[in-house]
Amino acid sequence: MIVDRLGRKFSNLRVSLTAACNYACSYCVPDGKRLMKAHNELSAPRLLKAVELLQQATGIDKVRITGGEPLVTPKFDDFLLGVMSIGLSDVSLTTNGQLIMSKKDVIAESGLKRMNISLDTLNPLRFKQIARGGDLATVLKGIDAMLELGIKLKINMVPMRSQNYSDILSMLDFCFERGIELRYIELMRMGHLLGSKGFQADFVSMESLLDEIGKKYEFSRTDAPYDSTAARFYVADYGNFGIIANESEPFCRTCTRLRLSSDGYLYGCLSSANRQDISGILELPRHLALPKLQGLLVNALGDKKLAFQGEVTVMKFIGG
Ligand code: 5AD
Repeated sequence: MIVDRLGRKFSNLRVSLTAACNYACSYCVPDGKRLMKAHNELSAPRLLKAVELLQQATGIDKVRITGGEPLVTPKFDDFLLGVMSIGLSDVSLTTNGQLIMSKKDVIAESGLKRMNISLDTLNPLRFKQIARGGDLATVLKGIDAMLELGIKLKINMVPMRSQNYSDILSMLDFCFERGIELRYIELMRMGHLLGSKGFQADFVSMESLLDEIGKKYEFSRTDAPYDSTAARFYVADYGNFGIIANESEPFCRTCTRLRLSSDGYLYGCLSSANRQDISGILELPRHLALPKLQGLLVNALGDKKLAFQGEVTVMKFIGG
């Protein structure tokens, strides 16, 4: 087991299937930019081999499928079915929900139980201004379809002062009505937001969020698991919501996450561009691959920081 001096170890792997995305969210990419596929993206079999090796090397038992947007790549089906048959304790998916209807059958067949859908507003015009791709009605249809399949849903919302502040309560109402747990994500200093005036102006703190929610609902804080990134709150008769308060209540000291990019690099920390290339290792037989991987994992764990400082490149193509 590879553990650092804070007792942090990797138990949670996020696999980015592709760096490409069909949205161009204002907090993710600058005006006029779009996320494209990486040059040497790995195939589904190679990514699955990576997951199995990482499970053996570090005891990882939870995997989240991300991107970019994971549903835009044709390898999604094979990866999903494959990763569901590895015997992990938990598999989940983060998607913007735009392509859910075309993937409904494979999702049902896979037996996937949990999904996070990113949705920042319930207003169709505001949706276009933030996501700059796709449309709201399609996402809402996808949400209904996943609820019908019995999938446990969370919705991720990034509140921003200038864009969707007035959606804070309506999104919570929407989620409570459907038994969905809403997670507000404090805006993070990633990509073009790092050091920008826009970040300061748009940032909504956990305190402000709770003030806003308190106008309508009475809530109390509940326990969250040791390595959870979210502060969780309970509203009697309605349900739970969470706040991922990267700035207000940083969670770096209990972080158990490891990230694998679509082109075969391991990232030990979202706030560091340091990375470890494992694409070559994936060509080796297991007995040769495992010791090499162990060495790279020690490096990746060493990249974990004590506090989040922001990062220019990493978030977009490894999906947070
Ligand atoms: N700050 C906060 N959240 C972000 N996300 C993407 N970029 C940022 C950012 N700069 C969110 C997406 C998605 C989740 C994986 O991360 O909206 O829901």
